Amino acid sequence: MERDSLSSNNTNKQSLTPGDLTWDRFIYPRGTKSQKTIDGYIEAIAIGAQFPPVKIQKVFNYPDADGGQTTEATLIIDGIHRWSAFKEKGIKEILAIEFKNQPIDYQENKTALLLESAKCNTSHGDRLSPNDKKRIARDIASSDPECRYTESSLAEKLGVSQQTVNAWITDIRTRQRTNRASIIIRLSRLGWTQEKIAETTKMTQGRVAQIINNTSFGKINNLLAQGRDMEYIASHYNMELALAWALRLEGKTDQEKFKELEWGLRTWDQWNFNECDERFGDDWPGRIPAQLVAHTLFYFTKPGDLVLDPMAGGGVVPDVCLAFERKCHAFDLAPSDSRPEIEYHHWDPQKGTWPVTKKPDLIFFDPPYYTKKAKEYEEKANANTPSISSYTKEDYERFFKNFFTLAHKNVKPATTLAFLNADWRDFESTPALEVKSCKSITIFDYHRLLSETGWEIIHRIECPLSSERLTGNMVQNMQDKRILGTIGRTLLIAKKVLTQT
Ligand SMILES: C[S@@+](CC[C@H](N)C(=O)[O-])C[C@H]1O[C@@H](n2cnc3c(N)ncnc32)[C@H](O)[C@@H]1O
Repeated sequence: MERDSLSSNNTNKQSLTPGDLTWDRFIYPRGTKSQKTIDGYIEAIAIGAQFPPVKIQKVFNYPDADGGQTTEATLIIDGIHRWSAFKEKGIKEILAIEFKNQPIDYQENKTALLLESAKCNTSHGDRLSPNDKKRIARDIASSDPECRYTESSLAEKLGVSQQTVNAWITDIRTRQRTNRASIIIRLSRLGWTQEKIAETTKMTQGRVAQIINNTSFGKINNLLAQGRDMEYIASHYNMELALAWALRLEGKTDQEKFKELEWGLRTWDQWNFNECDERFGDDWPGRIPAQLVAHTLFYFTKPGDLVLDPMAGGGVVPDVCLAFERKCHAFDLAPSDSRPEIEYHHWDPQKGTWPVTKKPDLIFFDPPYYTKKAKEYEEKANANTPSISSYTKEDYERFFKNFFTLAHKNVKPATTLAFLNADWRDFESTPALEVKSCKSITIFDYHRLLSETGWEIIHRIECPLSSERLTGNMVQNMQDKRILGTIGRTLLIAKKVLTQT
């Protein structure tokens, strides 16, 4: 609903029972009701005073008392003190006029109703205090990141000057602008063209260019010098922590970046990282440690290289690319709203679609480890575009054969493929001696599929999973049944086999 489309009044008077009306705290413009005013009205009623009708609005899509289902309601938008006095006095009928004579969608019109309520309260009765008006202006600005309500429209409704509204909400609007700016800067640093950023953020290309060229976060070093931590700095600029780190680390060497992030650089092909680093990526089923990605970038790419992450999940690869100044193109079938850098794509390599426009230097491929976390991935997918974790074993293996073939066809001769996976067996219920190779998928199978599709393995890096995720009881049960657990996880690094000419 557009900003001013609710402004006309309908003056049909009607009688209602006070108990039928709902007092909605969100659209009530004051901090509290005034008992003094109510008592004054009760005295006036006692001596036969007449009051103007209250103003109401019928709504649908209104949350019920438990906040669960939605329902219909008649909201009181002006005359709370009169209505309270009538209720306290036990008066059965109250005269009301409707704001709009049609029921309206509450969720879509919440802010407009609050403004109408505020407008009524600027001109009569207990006028709104400056503090109430300020709170309303700030609530509206916070819930309106697209800035549909301008300073002048708020000033007009609240009966104050534009400068006053400006002073009340300037910090909110600055953060909102910076937030949008931070999204644009993130995408630009990951290698997105201005045209594509404009299309995604629904801004003009000129505005995008202006933000990329003129936004400066020069004060980060000052804030660090004042002893502020990175969480403070990120929230000060209303940007994600990963971007704040990227700005802080800009221009440093990879080794200096490892040091500042307090990540010890591993020299050998055994990368144990028990915990995920909360600074990079979102909480996501199967999230991998940022350090694992950083080591892959360190050994197999250089700054400015382009990384493709076909199944990006919670975005740890783009975040680490940002910090290590690599470009990144990321996809997933369930991209989250907060991560515009992850584009929707459902990989079905049998169809032969390769959605990537530029040839990557590295593919960092972290697919589901067959049915591990299948339930979580399936909740994010849908029946027509399923997660590969719901495939049969044969289809799952076929998927990789087709994917590796498609990738081989579409990348540069020098592109590196980093493929992360783990042995899969039904290990929780099968004793070690009874495991059948036809029921398992192991790293040897992926090795075979890569070889069959024109890739050769140049490194095998062990990145074990943490064993702590199993409870004491589970471990006891495994030992009793002589089940051998799997915590191995392997990163295979492959290059294209080049045909000799
Ligand atoms: C192991 S998770 C990736 C985790 C990610 N590296 C992280 O650290 O957050 C695998 C991802 O593959 C995605 N996926 C599974 N099948 C897919 C398909 N056919 N096309 C696109 N994405 C798929 C899932 O949605 C899931 O996010």
